[in-house]
Order: sequence, then C-alpha cells, then structure tokens
Amino acid sequence: MMHVTLRQLRAFEAVARLRSFSRAAEELHVTQPTVSKQIRLLHEQVGLPLLEQLGKKVFITEAGQELYATCADWLETWGRFEQTIDNLKGLKQGRLRIAAVTTTKYFMPRILGPFCARYPGIDIALEVVNRDRLLERLTRNQDDLYIMGVPPEGLDAERESFMDNPLVVLAPIDHPLVGHQRIAFADLAGERFLVRERGSGTRMIMERVFQERGMPLRIKMELGSNEAIKQAVAGGLGLAMLSRSTLNPDPSREELAELDVEGFPIVRAWYVVRPKGKQISVVAATFLEFLRGHVQIFVRGQ
Ligand code: PGA
Repeated sequence: MMHVTLRQLRAFEAVARLRSFSRAAEELHVTQPTVSKQIRLLHEQVGLPLLEQLGKKVFITEAGQELYATCADWLETWGRFEQTIDNLKGLKQGRLRIAAVTTTKYFMPRILGPFCARYPGIDIALEVVNRDRLLERLTRNQDDLYIMGVPPEGLDAERESFMDNPLVVLAPIDHPLVGHQRIAFADLAGERFLVRERGSGTRMIMERVFQERGMPLRIKMELGSNEAIKQAVAGGLGLAMLSRSTLNPDPSREELAELDVEGFPIVRAWYVVRPKGKQISVVAATFLEFLRGHVQIFVRGQ
C-alpha cells in the first residue's frame, strides 16, 4: 500500500495546476524546497514519474494526469469533510481566504481589525489584487470570499452589496472648476485624465462613463495605484475619477477637490461575491454576518 500524505497531494495538485513549483509554493505559503521534497516523496511512493521539468517548464506524465484527476476529487471531498467537522463543532476558527480589489485597501483593514479582535481563532489571508487578477482567482475557486466594485457578468457568482462606492471626479484644489455647481460633463472635454492600469475596475467604469456620454477619454498618464493618481492630481497633472473610498473625509487636506459634475457621483456599491452554489465554511459565514452587521456602524463612524 502506498503511504501518501495530504500535504504531498496538495503540493502535487498545486504544481500540476499552476505548472510551476514556485507559484505552487507561493500559493501554499511554503518554500519551494518544501514543495520539491513533497513531490519527490510522492514520486517514490507511486513508483513512476508524475511531473517532468524541462528547463522552466513543468510537464505532467500520464501517471501524473491520472493522479491529478484523482487528487482534485480527493481534495474537494476532504475539504468538505473538514468543513463539516468544523460546522459540527460550531468552531469559529480556521483560515478565511479573502481576495479584494486594490481600492478596498482603504477600508478592508478597518473592517478586518475589529473582526480579528472578536474572533482571535480566525486567521485571515487577504490577497489585494486588481479586478482582472481577482476574477482569475474567482474562476479557480482560490478564496472563500471576493470583495469588488464591479461584479462579473456571465460568471456563476452570487453577490451581495454591503457599502456605497461612489465614483467621483477629482481635481487639484486650485483648479478653475472647483466650487462651480452642476458642471456639464462636456465641460470636461478639454481635460486630460490620469487613469488606473487596464484590468482595474475603476478604469473599466471610467471608460464606460466616457463611452456612454460619447466623449473621448484623453489620457495624460496611466498609473498603477490610486495613491499615485491622487498625488498626480494634487500636483496638477490632470483630473481623475476614483472611488470616494480612496479619499480623506476632507479631500482638501490632500490638496484635492471633488468636482460637482452633472450625473456624479456615480452611484455604485461594494460587493462581496462568491461562486454560486459554493458551500461556505463557518468562518466565511461568520465574516459575512459580521460584514452585514458592522459595515453600517463603520460607515456612520467614518
Ligand atoms: P480596482 O477595482 O481597485 O481594480 O480599480 C475597483 C472597483 O472594482 O471598484
């Protein structure tokens, strides 16, 4: 009989799926030599090569394909078993995996802080990535919950809004339009904009806004972070459209001003998303409950 451990199978499944030892190590939060060792032990037990590495490429052998299919089933069944046991114990402990889009970094830590204080047994892994990366993780079912501003269309996912996410137009505090009321969108035609990278939800919404209004978006510069965009706006490089969640309650403290443009702020929400039909763990359900109950308090206290 083969002596195969769950850790070896987890390592093998990750390498076979990601076709990379280093990415598997990263995902499993272990070192690459640990992954290699698990795979070597597994090879010894099975008695046939499962993976072959040529240069940087990882190939799966026929035996490997067989094991991969079996593994995926086992791991899912085992995961369900662990979840059932935790549910039976009613335990509020374990790991909660959340993936959240970049812009949520302005409020997620302030939600997670009190949550962790209340449930010290829950260990949180928070991945902060842009919308495109987050959708990849959702498709691969890598996390328990996903936090985003533009939920996917076409993907089988359940969503629940939990907080406002208005999109506003930002200008430097000394811009001639600051203080004007009900500025027509067309009055922004001469302006250059600072935009987020492609793959960002903010960028996607912004492009949609210009498209819907039939006005070309004139891009001055593309920047990969909201913070960099705010600094560039304050420095007079152009205007921007960002979620109000990125702003200080008093934007003038950052030398920024919100313009009163017709149709703005664009009303949006923050959503918590999960794959449809996914049986969520007690830990994830506990977080959802917390989110529903505490976000309003957080918003009021802001
Ligand atoms: P982003 O997403 O941080 O990728 O721009 C924000 C959003 O979806 O509202």
